[in-house]
Amino acid sequence: MSGNVPRRLGILVSGSGTNLQVIIDRIESGEIIAEIACVISNKADAFALTRAAKHGIPVVIHENTKFTDRRSYDAATVDILNKFKVDLVVLAGFMRILTDVMVNAFPNAIMNIHPALLPSFQGLHAQQQALDYGVRYSGCTVHFVDGGTDTGPIIMQTVVPVEQDDTETTLSLRIQKAEHQTFTTAIKLFVDGKIRVDGRKVIIYQ
Ligand code: GAR
Repeated sequence: MSGNVPRRLGILVSGSGTNLQVIIDRIESGEIIAEIACVISNKADAFALTRAAKHGIPVVIHENTKFTDRRSYDAATVDILNKFKVDLVVLAGFMRILTDVMVNAFPNAIMNIHPALLPSFQGLHAQQQALDYGVRYSGCTVHFVDGGTDTGPIIMQTVVPVEQDDTETTLSLRIQKAEHQTFTTAIKLFVDGKIRVDGRKVIIYQ
Protein backbone atom coordinates (compact mmCIF):
# COMPACT_ATOMS: atom_id res chain seq x y z
CA MET A 1 0.00 0.00 0.00
CA SER A 2 2.76 2.50 0.82
CA GLY A 3 5.56 2.46 -1.80
CA ASN A 4 6.84 5.49 -3.62
CA VAL A 5 3.87 6.30 -5.83
CA PRO A 6 1.55 8.84 -4.15
CA ARG A 7 -2.01 7.60 -3.76
CA ARG A 8 -4.55 9.31 -5.98
CA LEU A 9 -7.58 10.79 -4.23
CA GLY A 10 -10.94 11.46 -5.83
CA ILE A 11 -12.84 13.90 -3.62
CA LEU A 12 -16.63 14.16 -3.84
CA VAL A 13 -18.28 17.34 -2.56
CA SER A 14 -21.62 19.11 -2.49
CA GLY A 15 -20.99 22.32 -0.57
CA SER A 16 -18.55 24.70 1.04
CA GLY A 17 -15.53 22.38 1.05
CA THR A 18 -13.81 23.33 4.31
CA ASN A 19 -12.74 19.69 4.69
CA LEU A 20 -11.48 19.70 1.10
CA GLN A 21 -9.47 22.85 1.87
CA VAL A 22 -7.69 21.23 4.82
CA ILE A 23 -6.87 18.15 2.72
CA ILE A 24 -5.43 20.42 -0.01
CA ASP A 25 -3.40 22.37 2.57
CA ARG A 26 -1.96 19.26 4.21
CA ILE A 27 -0.98 17.79 0.84
CA GLU A 28 0.64 21.05 -0.23
CA SER A 29 2.56 21.26 3.06
CA GLY A 30 3.88 17.72 2.52
CA GLU A 31 2.14 16.31 5.59
CA ILE A 32 0.00 13.97 3.47
CA ILE A 33 1.81 12.29 0.60
CA ALA A 34 -0.97 12.01 -1.98
CA GLU A 35 -2.31 13.67 -5.08
CA ILE A 36 -5.85 14.94 -5.56
CA ALA A 37 -6.66 13.47 -8.96
CA CYS A 38 -10.04 15.20 -9.21
CA VAL A 39 -12.79 16.95 -7.28
CA ILE A 40 -16.30 15.95 -8.33
CA SER A 41 -19.38 17.93 -7.29
CA ASN A 42 -23.03 17.06 -7.75
CA LYS A 43 -23.82 20.78 -7.32
CA ALA A 44 -22.69 23.25 -9.96
CA ASP A 45 -22.51 26.12 -7.44
CA ALA A 46 -20.55 24.32 -4.69
CA PHE A 47 -17.87 26.65 -3.31
CA ALA A 48 -15.63 23.58 -3.00
CA LEU A 49 -15.17 23.77 -6.80
CA THR A 50 -13.73 27.28 -6.51
CA ARG A 51 -11.34 26.11 -3.80
CA ALA A 52 -10.12 23.20 -5.97
CA ALA A 53 -9.75 25.25 -9.14
CA LYS A 54 -7.68 27.84 -7.24
CA HIS A 55 -5.15 25.09 -6.55
CA GLY A 56 -5.12 23.79 -10.14
CA ILE A 57 -7.01 20.61 -9.26
CA PRO A 58 -9.19 19.11 -12.05
CA VAL A 59 -12.87 19.65 -11.24
CA VAL A 60 -15.89 17.85 -12.62
CA ILE A 61 -19.46 19.11 -12.27
CA HIS A 62 -21.48 15.93 -12.22
CA GLU A 63 -25.10 16.81 -11.48
CA ASN A 64 -27.39 14.09 -10.20
CA THR A 65 -30.39 15.94 -11.62
CA LYS A 66 -29.24 14.87 -15.11
CA PHE A 67 -29.77 11.19 -14.24
CA THR A 68 -33.03 9.33 -13.83
CA ASP A 69 -31.86 6.97 -11.10
CA ARG A 70 -29.16 6.71 -8.46
CA ARG A 71 -27.42 3.62 -9.83
CA SER A 72 -26.84 5.15 -13.26
CA TYR A 73 -25.52 8.33 -11.60
CA ASP A 74 -23.12 6.22 -9.55
CA ALA A 75 -22.03 4.21 -12.61
CA ALA A 76 -21.10 7.48 -14.32
CA THR A 77 -19.24 8.58 -11.15
CA VAL A 78 -17.25 5.33 -11.17
CA ASP A 79 -16.29 5.99 -14.81
CA ILE A 80 -15.01 9.46 -13.91
CA LEU A 81 -13.05 8.14 -10.91
CA ASN A 82 -11.50 5.37 -13.03
CA LYS A 83 -10.59 7.84 -15.76
CA PHE A 84 -8.63 9.79 -13.14
CA LYS A 85 -7.10 6.52 -11.79
CA VAL A 86 -8.34 7.15 -8.26
CA ASP A 87 -7.26 4.77 -5.43
CA LEU A 88 -9.18 6.39 -2.56
CA VAL A 89 -12.57 8.07 -2.80
CA VAL A 90 -13.09 10.77 -0.17
CA LEU A 91 -16.61 11.97 0.61
CA ALA A 92 -16.00 15.47 1.95
CA GLY A 93 -19.51 16.77 2.53
CA PHE A 94 -21.01 14.78 -0.36
CA MET A 95 -24.71 14.83 0.47
CA ARG A 96 -25.81 11.72 -1.38
CA ILE A 97 -26.22 8.10 -0.37
CA LEU A 98 -24.12 5.77 -2.49
CA THR A 99 -25.55 2.69 -4.18
CA ASP A 100 -23.92 -0.74 -4.47
CA VAL A 101 -22.50 0.37 -7.84
CA MET A 102 -20.08 2.77 -6.14
CA VAL A 103 -19.49 0.70 -3.02
CA ASN A 104 -18.59 -2.44 -5.01
CA ALA A 105 -16.27 -0.51 -7.32
CA PHE A 106 -14.15 0.76 -4.39
CA PRO A 107 -14.30 -1.83 -1.58
CA ASN A 108 -12.90 -0.38 1.67
CA ALA A 109 -11.59 2.53 -0.35
CA ILE A 110 -14.37 5.09 0.14
CA MET A 111 -14.03 7.27 3.24
CA ASN A 112 -16.81 9.44 4.63
CA ILE A 113 -16.84 12.09 7.36
CA HIS A 114 -20.03 12.27 9.40
CA PRO A 115 -20.82 15.04 11.94
CA ALA A 116 -21.80 12.76 14.86
CA LEU A 117 -20.48 9.84 16.86
CA LEU A 118 -21.83 6.92 14.83
CA PRO A 119 -23.87 4.82 15.18
CA SER A 120 -25.78 7.69 16.83
CA PHE A 121 -27.48 10.27 14.64
CA GLN A 122 -27.09 8.82 11.16
CA GLY A 123 -28.35 10.62 8.07
CA LEU A 124 -29.10 14.29 7.63
CA HIS A 125 -28.97 17.05 10.28
CA ALA A 126 -26.88 14.95 12.65
CA GLN A 127 -25.99 18.01 14.75
CA GLN A 128 -29.65 18.98 15.21
CA GLN A 129 -30.48 15.35 16.02
CA ALA A 130 -27.82 15.45 18.77
CA LEU A 131 -29.26 18.71 20.18
CA ASP A 132 -32.82 17.36 20.08
CA TYR A 133 -31.76 14.21 21.92
CA GLY A 134 -29.98 16.24 24.59
CA VAL A 135 -26.60 14.48 24.50
CA ARG A 136 -23.72 16.11 26.41
CA TYR A 137 -21.15 14.97 23.85
CA SER A 138 -21.25 14.53 20.12
CA GLY A 139 -18.42 14.65 17.60
CA CYS A 140 -17.38 13.29 14.24
CA THR A 141 -16.72 9.91 12.69
CA VAL A 142 -14.55 8.90 9.75
CA HIS A 143 -15.62 5.55 8.35
CA PHE A 144 -15.38 3.38 5.27
CA VAL A 145 -18.57 3.31 3.24
CA ASP A 146 -20.45 0.04 2.97
CA GLY A 147 -23.92 -0.77 1.61
CA GLY A 148 -25.78 1.04 4.42
CA THR A 149 -26.20 4.68 5.35
CA ASP A 150 -23.39 5.74 7.73
CA THR A 151 -22.90 2.12 8.80
CA GLY A 152 -19.43 1.17 7.51
CA PRO A 153 -16.34 0.23 9.57
CA ILE A 154 -15.23 3.11 11.79
CA ILE A 155 -11.70 4.43 11.28
CA MET A 156 -11.53 7.32 13.77
CA GLN A 157 -13.83 9.35 16.01
CA THR A 158 -13.36 12.58 17.95
CA VAL A 159 -15.58 13.63 20.84
CA VAL A 160 -16.85 17.22 21.02
CA PRO A 161 -18.79 18.66 23.99
CA VAL A 162 -22.31 20.01 23.52
CA GLU A 163 -22.84 23.33 25.35
CA GLN A 164 -26.19 24.28 26.94
CA ASP A 165 -26.76 27.25 24.66
CA ASP A 166 -25.65 25.53 21.45
CA THR A 167 -27.58 26.01 18.23
CA GLU A 168 -27.20 23.79 15.19
CA THR A 169 -24.77 26.40 13.83
CA THR A 170 -22.53 26.69 16.89
CA LEU A 171 -22.37 22.93 17.42
CA SER A 172 -21.68 22.37 13.70
CA LEU A 173 -18.77 24.81 13.80
CA ARG A 174 -17.25 23.09 16.86
CA ILE A 175 -17.63 19.67 15.24
CA GLN A 176 -16.22 20.95 11.94
CA LYS A 177 -12.95 21.94 13.63
CA ALA A 178 -12.63 18.38 14.93
CA GLU A 179 -13.54 17.01 11.49
CA HIS A 180 -10.65 18.79 9.82
CA GLN A 181 -8.09 17.18 12.12
CA THR A 182 -9.74 13.75 12.25
CA PHE A 183 -10.33 13.43 8.51
CA THR A 184 -6.83 14.43 7.47
CA THR A 185 -5.31 12.10 10.08
CA ALA A 186 -7.37 9.18 8.72
CA ILE A 187 -6.47 10.00 5.12
CA LYS A 188 -2.79 10.16 6.05
CA LEU A 189 -3.01 6.75 7.73
CA PHE A 190 -4.64 5.30 4.61
CA VAL A 191 -2.17 6.71 2.10
CA ASP A 192 0.73 5.66 4.33
CA GLY A 193 -0.61 2.08 4.21
CA LYS A 194 -1.32 1.95 7.94
CA ILE A 195 -4.95 0.83 7.84
CA ARG A 196 -6.33 -2.68 7.49
CA VAL A 197 -9.98 -3.68 7.64
CA ASP A 198 -10.90 -6.89 9.43
CA GLY A 199 -14.66 -7.33 9.18
CA ARG A 200 -16.22 -4.44 11.09
CA LYS A 201 -12.94 -3.56 12.77
CA VAL A 202 -10.36 -1.18 11.38
CA ILE A 203 -6.82 -1.96 12.52
CA ILE A 204 -4.43 1.00 12.60
CA TYR A 205 -0.66 0.42 12.59
CA GLN A 206 1.29 3.36 14.05
C1 GAR B 1 -19.32 18.34 7.15
O1 GAR B 1 -19.73 18.80 8.41
C2 GAR B 1 -19.59 16.85 7.01
O2 GAR B 1 -19.47 16.17 8.21
C3 GAR B 1 -21.00 16.84 6.53
O3 GAR B 1 -21.08 17.92 5.63
C4 GAR B 1 -20.20 18.94 6.06
C5 GAR B 1 -19.41 19.43 4.87
O4 GAR B 1 -18.67 20.55 5.21
N1 GAR B 1 -21.32 15.60 5.90
C6 GAR B 1 -22.46 14.97 6.08
O5 GAR B 1 -23.35 15.39 6.79
C7 GAR B 1 -22.59 13.66 5.31
N2 GAR B 1 -23.75 12.95 5.73
P1 GAR B 1 -17.56 21.11 4.22
O6 GAR B 1 -18.21 21.19 2.83
O7 GAR B 1 -17.27 22.48 4.75
O8 GAR B 1 -16.38 20.20 4.26
